Amino acid sequence: MQDVFSEFFSLKGKTAVITGSGRGIGKAIATMFARAGADVVIWDVIKENAEATAKEIADTTGQKTWVYIGDLLQQEKIKDYVKDIISLCGKVDILVNNAGVQVRKPALEITIEEWYRVLNTHLTATFLVTQAFVPHFIQRGGGKVINLGSLNCFMAVPDIMPYVASKMGILGLTRSMCVEWSKYNINVNALAPGFVATELTKKLFENPEKKEWVMKRIPMGRLADPEKDLGCLAIFLASKASDYINGQIIYSDGGWTAA
Ligand SMILES: NC(=O)c1ccc[n+]([C@@H]2O[C@H](COP(=O)([O-])OP(=O)(O)OC[C@H]3O[C@@H](n4cnc5c(N)ncnc54)[C@H](O)[C@@H]3O)[C@@H](O)[C@H]2O)c1
Repeated sequence: MQDVFSEFFSLKGKTAVITGSGRGIGKAIATMFARAGADVVIWDVIKENAEATAKEIADTTGQKTWVYIGDLLQQEKIKDYVKDIISLCGKVDILVNNAGVQVRKPALEITIEEWYRVLNTHLTATFLVTQAFVPHFIQRGGGKVINLGSLNCFMAVPDIMPYVASKMGILGLTRSMCVEWSKYNINVNALAPGFVATELTKKLFENPEKKEWVMKRIPMGRLADPEKDLGCLAIFLASKASDYINGQIIYSDGGWTAA
């Protein structure tokens, strides 16, 4: 009999596309997917990061990797990006909408450009990229979609109003996608990390008072390890093991939202 890990958790034979995977959490998820047997498309807007990550993953895991460079803020190009990606790797089974940006300032100072930059990177791009992949998933008999949420799907903190609005939107989008597309055997779930030390949180952690504020609120008293604490959950959500989980948000936050 096959062991449970290879039967239900393995991503062998699957192809995954991860947006914003040149660095940070996206890179960690792509690395863990490859370690679980998937071939991965590293999609980012920063070419050097995407190329370095794709090479590192191919060298360390032996899986196939592809680099795709495309700016998610160029909304009118998203359908073509997705077509290009499908012809680049032949077929796609898993999509992770991970790319993100942050603007940290009091709401009264936020410009309309900043508002749309954050909303469009998280919310509009997640909608448009998934919408463009769904016909391919329908044709192939199903697919797995993972949207990156956050603690801010659940609660607000000051100075990141567009981010909070977009992450709460991700919750609505995830549930709406589930109710429309689950009949096609498409699973759409949100993975919501607690705090991770990446470029996105660098400015916050450079401020000792803010860092202390964050650390005091994590019952486990530590930040998330992006590969172990987020990558393993992403593997679960991308694998057969989670076939009956749909429209859910799953927090990996060291207990923050329980406290
Ligand atoms: N770091 C945290 O503590 C944390 C916590 C909860 C949720 N998240 C979420 O995790 C995701 C990844 O964040 P991260 O911390 O790894 O950030 P990061 O800044 O390290 O990485 C974000 C990646 O997205 C790419 N990207 C940004 N705009 C893009 C665009 N227009 N087109 C294509 N690619 C683009 C960047 O180039 C970068 O590679 C985001 O959705 C973020 O909201 C992060």
